[in-house]
Amino acid sequence: MKRILMATAAAVAAIGCMAGASAKEMKMGLITPPPHIWTKEAQAFGDELKAATDGRHSVVVYPSRQLGNEAEVLQQMQSGAVDLSFMTVAEVSNRVPEFSALFTPFLVKDNAEAVKLLKTSPTAKELLELLPGKVGVVGIGYGMAGLRQIVSAVPIKSAADLKGRKIRVTPFPATRDLNTILGLAPTPMPLPDVYDALANGQVDAIEMDLELTVKLKYWELAKTVLISNQMMFPMVGIVSGRTWRDLSAEDRAIVTELMRKHLDVVLDKTEEIERTFLPEIKAKDSLQVLEVGQDFYGDAVAEWEKIWLPQAPAIPALRKEAAAL
Ligand code: BEZ
Repeated sequence: MKRILMATAAAVAAIGCMAGASAKEMKMGLITPPPHIWTKEAQAFGDELKAATDGRHSVVVYPSRQLGNEAEVLQQMQSGAVDLSFMTVAEVSNRVPEFSALFTPFLVKDNAEAVKLLKTSPTAKELLELLPGKVGVVGIGYGMAGLRQIVSAVPIKSAADLKGRKIRVTPFPATRDLNTILGLAPTPMPLPDVYDALANGQVDAIEMDLELTVKLKYWELAKTVLISNQMMFPMVGIVSGRTWRDLSAEDRAIVTELMRKHLDVVLDKTEEIERTFLPEIKAKDSLQVLEVGQDFYGDAVAEWEKIWLPQAPAIPALRKEAAAL
């Protein structure tokens, strides 16, 4: 009897050991290039995960769409071929339209408010709970790129000047609709194609944040930068449901804590936008910088909400939370 009990105890210990100790080299797919803050923090997260798990878990970061575009990465996460991503909510909203509430135009007034909302909003947190059921991934938390502006190669003085213009947008329906309502011709295009498209006149303008407008030199091709802060551009840190299932409770807690830490670094870094990049853009002699508010867009926001409220019912709750910041 004693021998049986000892053997059982040893087997239980071995299984426990295996669950906690099963080593995994995780793949993390990103569309951003190596110098981008999302990529840097993904790498820092991976390094810390390896240290915190004594090397049991490590992360290989694949930047610049090396594992495919975001739709392809998401597909691979469903099968477990890719484990992790920092992914635009734009792509997630293509699969789960409820996330489009985060693209409600003029939800926040500046990047600081966007950060506060994404860190504290119970409604944004509830949206993450849709992910396992709808796309087979676990949502850990939010990051973001800066608020969206319009960078135009043709001079813009009024909303009428936007009419009929071709504008590059990230491919997701919430922004397509806002631009269509404004009378623009939205042209969906991934980030790496943007510079050439603006340079060769394939588009007249681009929807972009100020950080990349400076860092990727889009401003050099522009006549007008319309500072509208028209929309947030959140990102979400996600783990494949299959990978999650195979992690011990202890390792899930470590992944969650470290990923949240680095998503917060991404969020906190956006304070640089108003401190550094906005003044830099305003100082360019070749640029006309137009700071506009929601009134510049007339009824467009109300029309957008009419389309999106049925598909993204969290809009009113997010507006209420944003107003109370
Ligand atoms: C974009 O499509 O504009 C974009 C994608 C990822 C990070 C920042 C911007």
